[in-house]
Amino acid sequence: MKMNNVPTKNKAVIAWVQQVASLCEPNDIYWCDGSDEEYARLCETLVEKGTFIKLNEKKRPNSFLARSNPKDVARVEARTFICSEDKENAGPTNNWENPKKMKKKLTKLFKGCMHGRTMYVIPFSMGPLGSDIAQIGIEITDSPYVVCNMKIMTRMGKKVWDVLGDKGFFVPCLHSVGYPLEAGQKDVAWPCNPENTYIAHFPETREIISFGSGYGGNALLGKKCLALRIATKMAKDEGWLAEHMLISGIEAPDGTKTYIAAAFPSACGKTNLAMLIPPKSFKGWKVWTVGDDIAWLKPKNGRLYAINPEAGFFGVAPGTSAKTNKNALDSCKANTIFTNVALTDDGDVWWEGMTDTTPKHLIDWQGNDWTPDCGRPAAHPNSRFTAPASQCPTIDSDWENPEGVPISAMIFGGRLATNAPLAYQAFNWAHGVFLAATVGSEKTAASEGKTGEIRRDPFAMLPFCGYNMGDYFSHWLEMGRKLKYMPQIFRVNWFRKDEKGNFIWPGFGENMRVIKWIVERVQNKAGALESPLGMMPNYDDLTWSGLDFSEKQFNDLMAVDKVQGLNEALSVVEYFKQFKKHLPPEFMNEVALLFLRLVRTGNVWTLPMKESKPPVKKKTPAKKTVSKKETTKKTAVKKVAVKKK
Ligand code: GTP
Ligand code: SPV
Ligand code: MN
Repeated sequence: MKMNNVPTKNKAVIAWVQQVASLCEPNDIYWCDGSDEEYARLCETLVEKGTFIKLNEKKRPNSFLARSNPKDVARVEARTFICSEDKENAGPTNNWENPKKMKKKLTKLFKGCMHGRTMYVIPFSMGPLGSDIAQIGIEITDSPYVVCNMKIMTRMGKKVWDVLGDKGFFVPCLHSVGYPLEAGQKDVAWPCNPENTYIAHFPETREIISFGSGYGGNALLGKKCLALRIATKMAKDEGWLAEHMLISGIEAPDGTKTYIAAAFPSACGKTNLAMLIPPKSFKGWKVWTVGDDIAWLKPKNGRLYAINPEAGFFGVAPGTSAKTNKNALDSCKANTIFTNVALTDDGDVWWEGMTDTTPKHLIDWQGNDWTPDCGRPAAHPNSRFTAPASQCPTIDSDWENPEGVPISAMIFGGRLATNAPLAYQAFNWAHGVFLAATVGSEKTAASEGKTGEIRRDPFAMLPFCGYNMGDYFSHWLEMGRKLKYMPQIFRVNWFRKDEKGNFIWPGFGENMRVIKWIVERVQNKAGALESPLGMMPNYDDLTWSGLDFSEKQFNDLMAVDKVQGLNEALSVVEYFKQFKKHLPPEFMNEVALLFLRLVRTGNVWTLPMKESKPPVKKKTPAKKTVSKKETTKKTAVKKVAVKKK
């Protein structure tokens, strides 16, 4: 196929594009320059094709709504593959296929798959352009929707060619929606091929091939595929970490900033914590946003420095409101692509939890009329907004610093209704790695399959680790050995529920109370008590001004049930078995210590309650000559009496 206007002299790029074109047989090839004019033109094309609906320019300037095929709404873990030469290197938690076999299968699927379509070549950088921590990828796709999203999510366009040069290294990312248009065939608004979807990774040769889905992480290949699955393998080989983590800077009233990174599974609160607004009573405390989904962490001078490789947010829409995450809402005020949310009658967007009052009429995510009593959600639970990170009101001054920001604390958590305390700290690095490796969480709508099911999601990386998870654990332990100032490791859970099914912890901005404790622990300023699970804050170690949350409530939230704890430890042993010789021996040590600490405690381990002060008696006339001893005695009697009641 003849190629015009080729913007690079890189022979490897040209040869690869040629080869893909002759396989996929598109109508034409378009080299993306990443300009705003190009973006505007593509959005217009998408509106004409019916993929995009232009939103009300006054309410939501330069913004669009896309509705996907109902069979293409989330990541598809069952169709995601790690193709290593040796099956063992994919490990027990990944789907594996032999690379040659997979390429053969895919070559068949890709043959002629771009008939009737334009083939777009997208040069992009994950990480600030030109920084030595960044990685260049080139995505070939037949989806203009993907091009527009990549423009927001990555540093995309012609500058990448300069950085790449004639011989530079890039990760080839091949994508097709798998819906060729044969002569006379009409296109659909959301072309895809759910029956033949493959998200294939070749970590050893650093290649990505994705077929059949146009949605999120399946199709925007810079994100989960490159910045996590391929990057984890690069990081293992080169001595750094690629993680499913938010990064934020916590500013204290004295102006000091402590950077934290936190890993929660998909749709479990990363965006919220990244952009948290502290309660009003936390005067002088501010949270600054570096990233909300992915962190690349590299050791330097004995410390871990983190960058956010992305340039935008692909955030969960439902539940995002002015109360829960005002900064996320503000980030998508304009220049945003919404996917699978509802459309209001005045041409704006809406989703469940966005406002206190529900609109009387909407067009739902599938394009049907919707009323509050119709029994269907208006927005899909995994509906998302694609917004430029630069629009976030709390974006950190160092968010694009190629050196990264120094990380002082790392937080791991999941979504668990029972048996998981609000917060605790690891005793040391190995214990912290163990805590991260054993996180359990309910499955969410971010991936296809049964939601709500509890599964272990080590490091929130279960769907994103590009090699054997056991080796990944060892890599983390190894990293600790290299650090002089290692971050402190914490576990949190915002999602504990009472018997009625209500969240016990208010969450969102109130999570600042835990974050402040974490920052102060790092600075050796806050207390904690040893529990069987780790170091736990006492009621007094958290700041409670502006929130009515009693010590009893708090201690209940922190309690550890001995039998449940022992069962959990047993299930951890079961879980570890699958890793066989890849399991770090340190982990069996950690399990043994956990058993010992649990056995040592009573049926329920609780934080000690502070003794409540006796009520002040107003009526008793003041006696002139009562000795101190006597008063204490009286109070003691009173206390016993109260207890008997
Ligand atoms: P991915 O982008 O899928 O990786 O997920 P994420 O971790 O960034 O998810 P996000 O922060 O968008 O959270 C998803 C859901 O969790 C939203 O519906 C939020 O409203 C809800 N959520 C976030 N923080 C809290 C919290 O502290 N408490 C409760 N109860 N819900 C929360
Ligand atoms: C996730 O599922 O963790 C996401 C969304 O961040 S997606 O990019 O679709 O994977
Ligand atoms: Mn994610």
